[in-house]
Amino acid sequence: MAPRPRIVRTLPALHRALARWRGAGDTVALVPTMGALHAGHLALVRLARRRARRVVVSIFVNPAQFAPNEDFASYPRTFDADVAALTAAGVGLIWAPEVETMYTPGFATRIVPEGPAKVGLEDAFRPHFFGGVAIVVSKLLIQCLPNVAVFGEKDFQQLMVIMRLAADLDLPVKIVGAPIVREADGLAMSSRNAYLSAPERAAAPTLYRVLKDCAAAIARGGRIARVLDDGGAEIEQAGFQLDYLEARHATTLAKVESAADGPLRLLVAARIGRTRLIDNVAV
Ligand code: PAJ
Repeated sequence: MAPRPRIVRTLPALHRALARWRGAGDTVALVPTMGALHAGHLALVRLARRRARRVVVSIFVNPAQFAPNEDFASYPRTFDADVAALTAAGVGLIWAPEVETMYTPGFATRIVPEGPAKVGLEDAFRPHFFGGVAIVVSKLLIQCLPNVAVFGEKDFQQLMVIMRLAADLDLPVKIVGAPIVREADGLAMSSRNAYLSAPERAAAPTLYRVLKDCAAAIARGGRIARVLDDGGAEIEQAGFQLDYLEARHATTLAKVESAADGPLRLLVAARIGRTRLIDNVAV
């Protein structure tokens, strides 16, 4: 049986554990998460294990990236199951700080990401979100100073924001993106899928189906605006309220007119009942 990872809750303990690994010449990969781990997170861990000798998984539900009306208090917390899954996955260290450890009294620093964080996708609907992600990811990267940090393409705009952030702040870490892990019916795995009622869960794979159909239609030469209008209507017919369904440049996330402005990425966000889902595909 795999040894249980060390669970570390204070910065001195984190630094001691990492110094021991560094002293032995080991490379380190970090996988930041908010817990409630599923197969998507565990795929990031597997990728991290291929990229470095040692893997740290952080579990921290970051209050700074939730708006007051969002689900911070009710966000699923499944720490014991997470530890069991990470034990089986061969993780060496779990960094699980308390909120007060990450945000000490008097905490007063902000990071304001622009560029891909200001393109009118997630930022238009969750204006506080990328500032909160930027501060916590910067802190995690500085605390752990990993060789590699792995993030999922599931949160595609987040991945672009973090790549920009690491480059702009000269953080000596390679940011690696990992493909989206899906349920058998195509629904992108997410901790928030647990919120879906049975009928909502049945409707949820529409998002990926429409994304794939739209990507194929655009690749065949279909006019982007027309294809996305039809796709958006289909998503609404399935019972969603659509926040956005857009084609963007795959790295800058800038608006595009035609496939010639590519490479393209299609991104969607939609709400069903009290749950907001996001997904994306390459064209
Ligand atoms: P969380 O939603 O827990 O996701 C942690 C990481 O897992 C992110 O990089 C996310 O993109 C990735 N992920 C989630 N579902 C995935 C799926 N189905 N396939 C592949 N990767 C998937 O994203 C966050 O936490 C936070 O914003 C965080 C970066 C930890 C900062 O607080």
